[in-house]
Amino acid sequence: MNILCIGAGYVGGPTMAVIADQCPDHRVTVVDINTSRIAAWNSDSLPIYEPGLAEVVARCRNRNLFYSTDIPRGIREADIIFVSVNTPTKMFGAGAGKAADLQYLEKTARSIIEYAESDKIVVEKSTLPVRTAQALSRVLHSNAKGLHFQIVSNPEFLAEGSAIRDLKNPDRVLIGGLETSQGRQAVDAVAGIYRRWVPEEKIITTGLWSSELTKLVANALLAQRVSSVNSISALCEKTGANINEVTRVAGLDSRIGAKFLKAGVGFGGSCFKKDILNLVYLCEFYGLPEVAAYWEQVVRINDYQAERFVRNMLAAMFNTLAGKKIALFGFAFKRDTGDTRESPAIAVTRQLHAEHAEIAICDPKALDNAKLDLADLAEGVTYTADPYTAARGAHAIAIITDWDEFRDLDYAQIYDAMNKPAFIFDGRGLVDAGRLHEIGFNVYPLGCPALTHF
Ligand code: NAD
Ligand code: UGA
Repeated sequence: MNILCIGAGYVGGPTMAVIADQCPDHRVTVVDINTSRIAAWNSDSLPIYEPGLAEVVARCRNRNLFYSTDIPRGIREADIIFVSVNTPTKMFGAGAGKAADLQYLEKTARSIIEYAESDKIVVEKSTLPVRTAQALSRVLHSNAKGLHFQIVSNPEFLAEGSAIRDLKNPDRVLIGGLETSQGRQAVDAVAGIYRRWVPEEKIITTGLWSSELTKLVANALLAQRVSSVNSISALCEKTGANINEVTRVAGLDSRIGAKFLKAGVGFGGSCFKKDILNLVYLCEFYGLPEVAAYWEQVVRINDYQAERFVRNMLAAMFNTLAGKKIALFGFAFKRDTGDTRESPAIAVTRQLHAEHAEIAICDPKALDNAKLDLADLAEGVTYTADPYTAARGAHAIAIITDWDEFRDLDYAQIYDAMNKPAFIFDGRGLVDAGRLHEIGFNVYPLGCPALTHF
């Protein structure tokens, strides 16, 4: 079978690499309009960092995995087309700031009808508003060649930093299709790809609309958990309770569960915020303002958490950060990725900059993206991959990303090289607060009582 994926991003690239790895007899091609991205996929320096990805690509590339800019050929030769283009928040016109911007999806559909010469299965891999398949079908069937397309929804649940693990061993694979015989056949063809390595009971089939909506809901529920614990972290700081104790014990209830209850400086990543805002927009569109307001609060609490983090820094450091050096440990939105999209580090840096602090940003993988995100802040921001350099002469360290590298540093050495009193604001519950306090730091673990020397 010839499998094509349109969109060689964080999803298309790794997903297709794993499909090629698991199905050596299928030919998998990934195309993109971004020529430099495709060149990077074909080089030794892949365009995204993901543990284990380079090994999978090295095994399959130019065997049965091809990255190309030849979109017409890819479409002509494909039996199944996965569409994995970006669906960002629309920033103009009706629905600006909330609705999904579907222009890239529609352009893809128009390319398919321009170049296709036979019937095809088109798979929605991108995250899309519920009922997008209907619009997609209409665009595809506007072709004058009499071609037929079956639309299947197969949303992706991988998380960055663990993409290869998630793809190889998913909790579930969701495939939605129309309840017609052709629809069922198309679902079965897509399921057949996954059956090569995913146990049958984990391959779930549903109707199209449920599948599209499930993806938005899964992200909304995950983000909601994070905002719930983050809101309680604020109450913990006021009352002397410890958020880690509260969530650990609450999570022991099997109905609640222990995962995704880690308080922090806020969730980032390209999807949580955009997908919830999309859900909010859909609820408003369908006349459900109370439901929209409920979910919008998840995003509001997230913004509040990053603001609150900097306000706490300001209050602890005698209400002035002007001229003080702050070492930001981490810029990626989570560990094990170089991705900085919607990272809380961006909001934190901008607020610190507005306070006229000098910011030294340190991250093992995300410095290039950080420089792009902060391109307008030429003055007062420096970048280094070395945490010891970042902290030298600093008044405070703020831990923004939960990189393992930051856990086991020689904090005594770091303390000696810092301005005194030295502060550490742990926005990820990463370091041993007691040990750092013993070294001499004033420690502010998020959601926990501060350990100070005043
Ligand atoms: P991305 O921006 O990294 O990649 C999208 C790619 O599509 C880009 O390289 C872009 O150049 C390409 N593209 C856009 N229009 C095109 C066109 N007309 N023809 C060919 N290529 C085109 O985005 P991503 O992070 O891979 O996300 C893709 C989709 O998957 C989104 O809908 C997202 O919500 C969803 N998703 C993302 C993740 C994640 O972890 N990033 C996880 C699950 C789902
Ligand atoms: C998330 C989902 O986990 C994936 O299932 C989904 O496919 C993906 O979004 C998507 O649609 O893009 P991702 O954003 O890559 O994946 O990473 P997560 O592990 O979910 O983390 C998101 C953010 O939440 C990070 O900033 C992380 O630090 C934060 N987080 C996560 C917390 O603050 N606390 C937690 O307990 C968990």
